[in-house]
Formats: sequence, structure tokens, C-alpha cells
Amino acid sequence: MKIPFNRLFLTGKEINYITQAIASSSVSGDGMFDKKVVKLLEQRLCSPKILTTTSGTHSLELAMMLIDIKPGDEVIMPSFTFPSTANAVINRGGIPVFADIGLDNFSMDLTDIQRKITDRTRAIVPVHYGGRGCPMDEIMELATGYGLHVVEDAAQAVGATYKGKALGTWGDMGCFSFHGTKNFVAGEGGAISINIDDPKLIQRAEIIRQKGTNRNQFVRGEVDQYNWVDMGSSFAPSDILMAFLYAQLEDMEMVIDKRKRISDYYSEKLEKYVESGTLVSMTTTPLDMTSNYHNFYILLRNKGERDKVISRMKQKGIQTVIHFVPLHTSPMGKYYGNKPEDLPITKIVGDTLLRLPVYTDMKPEETAYVVDELIKILKELFD
Ligand SMILES: Cc1ncc(COP(=O)(O)O)c(C=O)c1O
Repeated sequence: MKIPFNRLFLTGKEINYITQAIASSSVSGDGMFDKKVVKLLEQRLCSPKILTTTSGTHSLELAMMLIDIKPGDEVIMPSFTFPSTANAVINRGGIPVFADIGLDNFSMDLTDIQRKITDRTRAIVPVHYGGRGCPMDEIMELATGYGLHVVEDAAQAVGATYKGKALGTWGDMGCFSFHGTKNFVAGEGGAISINIDDPKLIQRAEIIRQKGTNRNQFVRGEVDQYNWVDMGSSFAPSDILMAFLYAQLEDMEMVIDKRKRISDYYSEKLEKYVESGTLVSMTTTPLDMTSNYHNFYILLRNKGERDKVISRMKQKGIQTVIHFVPLHTSPMGKYYGNKPEDLPITKIVGDTLLRLPVYTDMKPEETAYVVDELIKILKELFD
């Protein structure tokens, strides 16, 4: 059997909706499917304001423009994340400051965040890893105490909640991704939830997203012509992509449920290997969270063991993959003066984490094959 790490899931409605978009000449940004996506997301996430974007990366860039990150400003984030989290900051001349993470859910350690706050710190960016969330109430309390912005990187966490509230709606803003590898796909796409009740900020977000113009106001009939009024970029996605995305988002609960079954099955089968210490840990969802089951990971005892498992699984036709190379150990992280030993837990997670295949329409026999082969390999190599 050949098991890829990921496989695109289609609900079957994508072509139909794309055809409708084309037939209605709704192909550029802010078209009819965009409106449907916005409404669906605002309702499902209880978000006061959603704007769609061309990617999770662009949502983060838009957020950093909105909070006016300037050269020399510091933004605290985990190093165990995708480069876009840091690029959004350095593109504005800001400096990413990395805080270490805890072994549970890889959320930033609150004491380390506090230690890293200086008089140049402007914002905190919690990253919700793998569809499970950071303790947002505690992060918000800390940020409020220091007068800092919070921008959630919820790229992987669409539809997941912490204490009953959608991830991405806790901070000042939350950024989502609909990249082809995510649970809900536009191909390339994203969204930002603006959670502060500030009409001026929302208006500015619309302007930046529409090339620095007040085009949205013009379309709504609020002004007679539109004009260049601020800095901006082109962050509005084509309606063809939003047609695709709408087909996916309509089935959000079904997708989450299918992924939950895969994750639950892996957890049940692997539990005793965590208990025995062969595995250090695996994905768990604490009771105060609901996950969107974006991924399933295991932590091995060291890098050597992790790498052996990858190659043995490959021999069985199963693709398992590591995740982020911690940003602080990367060439750019080093350029900003970071050393690998600065963040010990992040280093361990980067070296020992392995993700098992999870895709929405994974068949029970595929899930069984993955976990049975993994167990055989664990027994053979480490028992
Ligand atoms: C944590 C995190 N942030 C940001 C991004 C960027 O999202 P996109 O690929 O939609 O630009 C990703 C995507 O992989 C991500 O995992």
C-alpha cells in the first residue's frame, strides 16, 4: 500500500461553484462567492469581521501593517512556526523575538514571553499548532498588562476553539490559511478576523487589502469615486478561488469529524507506547479545546530514532514528515542573532517531531496500515 502524507479532499461541489462564478462573470476579488465565504466564516467563528485574503501569509502581513509595525519594533512569537509568521514582521523592518514553547501543544511559555518583553515590544503572535490552541485567556491578560497587540496565527486552526471561543477571534486579529495543505482549501487563500470593535481599523484593513484605495467604499456607494488613500497591496482573492473555498467550507463539520476519527484511532492505538515511554508524547486535545484535527504528531526520544522511523516507514510505502525547522536555527534566525541553544524545548520538538499521514478521506484500512506498521517498527527498533 502507498500512503501519501496528504491528499486533497474535494466535496464534489467545487467545479459547480467555479462554473457559477465564471457564468456570472464573478472572477475578481469581492465577488459573489467571497460574500458567501465571509458570511459563513463570520457565523461559524462568531467573528465580528472577516476579510478574505490571498494567503495566510498575506493575512499576517496585513495584520502587521494594521498595527503599524515600524523598523526596530519587536514582535514576540514562537520559533516553531512557518517563516511567514516572522516575514510579516521583518517586511516592515520589525524584529522577530522568539520565545520558547511548552511540550504541550507547543504554545509559547508565558514566563519566557514575559522575559522577552522590552520597551520596543509591540505585539505577541501566538501560533495555534496543528489545529489545537494556545491558552488565549492567559496570553490576552499578559498582553493587556503590557499594552501589547495580539495577532493570532491561526493558519492551521480554522474551526478550532479554546474555551468555547473560536481560535483567531481572541486577539486583536486572527489570521487563517486556506492553502492546499490545510483542512479547507482555496488552493492559495486566507482570511483575517478583525476582532476589535473599531470601524476606522476595519476601514483601513479594507483599504490596505484593496491596493491602498477606498474601492470597497465606492462599491458600497459611500463615495463617488475611489482614490489612492493609504499604503496597500493586492490581498483580495479571485472569486474563482472563493467558489472553490465555499464548496469546502460548507462541509466544515463533516471534514472535522472525518479527521477526528483518524486522529482518535491513532491516539487509541499509540497510547500504550506513550505510557511505556517509547514515544515521548503525541497529539492530545485538552478538555478546554476543540481541535480541527489538522495534523497528528508523535514525539520520538531523539532525532536519530525519529529519522530511523521516517526511513523505515518509507520502506513500507508510508510518507511521514517532520514539521518546522525552528526559525531561530535557520539562516535568517541566525542572522537575527539567535543560537540553537537559546530555545531548548523548541530545539527538541524540531528534532523529534514526526507527523503521520492525515487526509480527510483516508480509508480505515489506510489508517490501520499506517499505525500497525508504525507499531511494528517501534517494537523492532526500540523495545
Ligand atoms: C503557522 C503558519 N503560519 C502561516 C502560514 C502561511 O499560510 P499560507 O501558506 O496560506 O500563506 C502557514 C502555512 O503553512 C502556517 O502553517
